[in-house]
Amino acid sequence: MFNEQRKIQYLTGLDWALKSASTKYATHGYHPYASRYIPQIPHYLISVFSKKNDLVLDNFLGSGTTLVESKILGRDAIGLDVNPLACLIARVKTTNIQKCDLEEICQFCLSLDKDIQSLKNNDKHNTSILVGDIPHPNILKWFNQSSISELLLLKNRIDSIKKKKTREFLLVAFSSILRAVSDATSGFGNLMLNLHPPPRIGAYQKFCRVVTSMVEGMKQYNQTSTHSNVKILNSDSRNLNFLQDHTIDFICTHPPYILVEMKRVLAKRKYCCIVIGNPIYKGKTWHLNEILKKDSLKVGFALIKEIRRRKYRLTMGNIKEEYVLILKNE
Ligand SMILES: C[S@@+](CC[C@H](N)C(=O)[O-])C[C@H]1O[C@@H](n2cnc3c(N)ncnc32)[C@H](O)[C@@H]1O
Repeated sequence: MFNEQRKIQYLTGLDWALKSASTKYATHGYHPYASRYIPQIPHYLISVFSKKNDLVLDNFLGSGTTLVESKILGRDAIGLDVNPLACLIARVKTTNIQKCDLEEICQFCLSLDKDIQSLKNNDKHNTSILVGDIPHPNILKWFNQSSISELLLLKNRIDSIKKKKTREFLLVAFSSILRAVSDATSGFGNLMLNLHPPPRIGAYQKFCRVVTSMVEGMKQYNQTSTHSNVKILNSDSRNLNFLQDHTIDFICTHPPYILVEMKRVLAKRKYCCIVIGNPIYKGKTWHLNEILKKDSLKVGFALIKEIRRRKYRLTMGNIKEEYVLILKNE
């Protein structure tokens, strides 16, 4: 694209508040994830700081927002996360599923209807599957009995699917409904029991709705994504030894951060963008962007620009503003 000055000019002219932007297109809305960034952020940055077939790294992958955008923009990408659930969500969000398999997925949901009805009628003899034991005694505090039965049936059936892509797709749908069908409070923050839970829709019904919407998301993703490669590792990014020095064309991530390793693997004269929010705790704002800027300079990055964005969708830490730090490995 343009030279550095024009890149920065272009970026600073963009609407970063993105107040009414759709953030759940393609596969982005598959699963809630704490402190997810909105897809437009990596989209802007990847477009400007890398080119087709470049290799992008997100060493704090989370739910895979950077990787989905890399696939859409035709960049190869590597993502790491210590959380196996994050890796599962990211794998499902970045793996194309063809039309015939999507039809099978919808068929799978319909095929459960009879067993769910039998469960509802408490007709144990006609319920042709084993629902298994209740996994933990405390579970009865969080879910009512009918949700547990439906969830066990769903999980049991999903586990028996042989095709990994299909099984993982349905597992993500399953995981994404758990909080909504439980008696936990909704929203971010600590998981608390809602002592007066509102009436919930049945787990199976919710699951079918989520699967239908995920299937639509996958159709959109299939149309917009490219054939670029995505690699996801369930590992600790404090150790990036599997990457040679200066082999990454662009880093786009969201804290925490491991600056020395990031600088080592990033190619010379290439960029690293870190999105960082300043949380408010006990009425005090913690200026993490300032700490991060100092640390970045200490390890030898050059600070090219800091873009401040106002956040309209509040997430954990009551973060009202966040910063995009544009660093360069000079
Ligand atoms: C803020 S979230 C990233 C969210 C992501 N940008 C998204 O849009 O979904 C930070 C992630 O870093 C992961 N993480 C924290 N320490 C890590 C480490 N040492 N190695 C790999 N992942 C780590 C956490 O599990 C979490 O998923």
